[in-house]
Amino acid sequence: MVSVESHDYDVLIIGAGGAGLRAAVEATARGCKTAIITKSLLGKAHTVMAEGGMAAAMGNVWEQDNWKVHFRDTMRGGKMLNNWRMAQIHAQEAPDRVLELESWGALFDRTPDGRILQRDFGGHRYARLAHVGDRTGLEMIRILQQKSVAEDIDVFSECTINQLLVNDSEVNGAVGYWRETGELVQFRAKSVIMATGGLGRIWSVTSNSWEGTGDGHSLAMNAGAEMIDMEFVQFHPTGMVAPASVKGILVTEGVRGDGGTLRNSLGERFMFNYIPPMFASETADTEEEADRWYTDKENARRTPDLLPRDEVARAINSEVKAGRGSPSGGVYLDIAGRRDADYIKRRLPSMYHQFRELAGVDITKESMEVGPTAHYVMGGVRVDPESAATSIGGLYAAGEVAAGLHGSNRLGGNSLSDLLVFGKRAGEFAAERAIQMDHSTLDKQQIEEAVSRIAKPFESEGTENPYTVQSDLRELMQSKVGIIRNRSDLESALVEIAQLKGREKNVTVSGTRRYNPGWHTALDLQHLLSMSEAIAKAALEREESRGGHTREDFPAPSDEFGKLNIVVTLGDSDEVNIKREPLTEMPKELAELFKD
Ligand code: FUM
Repeated sequence: MVSVESHDYDVLIIGAGGAGLRAAVEATARGCKTAIITKSLLGKAHTVMAEGGMAAAMGNVWEQDNWKVHFRDTMRGGKMLNNWRMAQIHAQEAPDRVLELESWGALFDRTPDGRILQRDFGGHRYARLAHVGDRTGLEMIRILQQKSVAEDIDVFSECTINQLLVNDSEVNGAVGYWRETGELVQFRAKSVIMATGGLGRIWSVTSNSWEGTGDGHSLAMNAGAEMIDMEFVQFHPTGMVAPASVKGILVTEGVRGDGGTLRNSLGERFMFNYIPPMFASETADTEEEADRWYTDKENARRTPDLLPRDEVARAINSEVKAGRGSPSGGVYLDIAGRRDADYIKRRLPSMYHQFRELAGVDITKESMEVGPTAHYVMGGVRVDPESAATSIGGLYAAGEVAAGLHGSNRLGGNSLSDLLVFGKRAGEFAAERAIQMDHSTLDKQQIEEAVSRIAKPFESEGTENPYTVQSDLRELMQSKVGIIRNRSDLESALVEIAQLKGREKNVTVSGTRRYNPGWHTALDLQHLLSMSEAIAKAALEREESRGGHTREDFPAPSDEFGKLNIVVTLGDSDEVNIKREPLTEMPKELAELFKD
């Protein structure tokens, strides 16, 4: 047996984004010996890509706002497929989590009378995103990191977990490797929290950086956890489209939240042509009313530029397909001329620099070219709404890797508040469990299996290059399991995924274990492939269009599918199984909120 470095913790947290850090702070505060493991560096989480703000009904700009309105917006944005209890907890607790972050040092933008300023975002009835310019996720990570360092929480950076260890159907540890040295490491823990974020790297156009390979989704599924809503993927409407080298990089919704509008190549504000029936009565149908909405919420209706993301992404897709796109295959986003240069630079400093440096565009004077980019997955590990516990003992999940809160489509800004609300809860309940129990013994055989699987790409006699297989998968998912889907594409995608899985078995890498990106890519590939299969299978099963899942062969939402989740599990022979399960019923007092 090769040597494996070994550590014991009460609470082990995999992932160092907002959810992982918040969970760590909580578990430590409750007296638990806690560690955070990140395959990247601290500060590199996808959390920083939630630029525009964190949604919380604080009522600082519109005093009419309250948790019930936020709850209602979240459920309607998710097309009612959300776990209602998670949406309720989220809306009720988000304001306290924002204030807590401020008390720890977050420097939010302010209203003239000194309260936390809140901005407009898609699908939110009132301006409710607490923000720090367009760098809110970054500020959140800065504060939580500072707090974690102050609490002396152990951090294992550049350490990739490749397998969860399970004892008597309960998770009790994990095995991985140091990216720099390739040395192996095992952790024994009483509770494990999965906070690994998403899987945007499955698509070739994405806002996610290299870390977003669905590791946590895949590790949890391999350990036996149930997954739900895997068919729902959020294509953020506005990613950069040019130059090609930066395609997919996020352009914050804050641009539209602060008055930016979308136009096609004919100069038309095309979103007026894509107002869905569900939002028709509350959406403006003239430019004059839409522009007035920013300052007159009681008398004007919402601008269609700020419809929920699924609606806007599909509309952009249709305009481009109809030949009314921009030269680089997107549409135009304008804030120049609508707001003055000082305002743009103050409110959107990162966007100003991003376009100037990467595209040579001055957004205070010129249009941006934008198009949809894979940004977020609504699907993930099924969790208990109160405790963030998964269906496996000892395993908790919070943030993007967990599912339920956002239903079929997440509203912008709800992710940062999700990370804080459910990160805290995961830390609390994982700690509570850990405090009550002793360590259990790690299973040597599982560790040996993990160790040999991690080494396998060096020993394979195949000829496949991991980068080529990964790139072929990403192109396949972009073309056949993207924004618009149909039966024949999904069926053929599943056949091709099976072929790619065969190729993955023949992947080989050369060199040593010392910082070897080819080897890391080969190991990531297993997660990407199993999650691609889960997504394609769930998408094939859901014969309707809803939120982040559009079927051109079933273009309308269906009553039958509107009442169920698709549940994904791993079968005994490592096949992905799916079944349908009814949603839990919303209590009457909450259902009343949707009477209209
Ligand atoms: O557009 C944005 O700033 C992204 C926010 C989010 O995903 O919540």
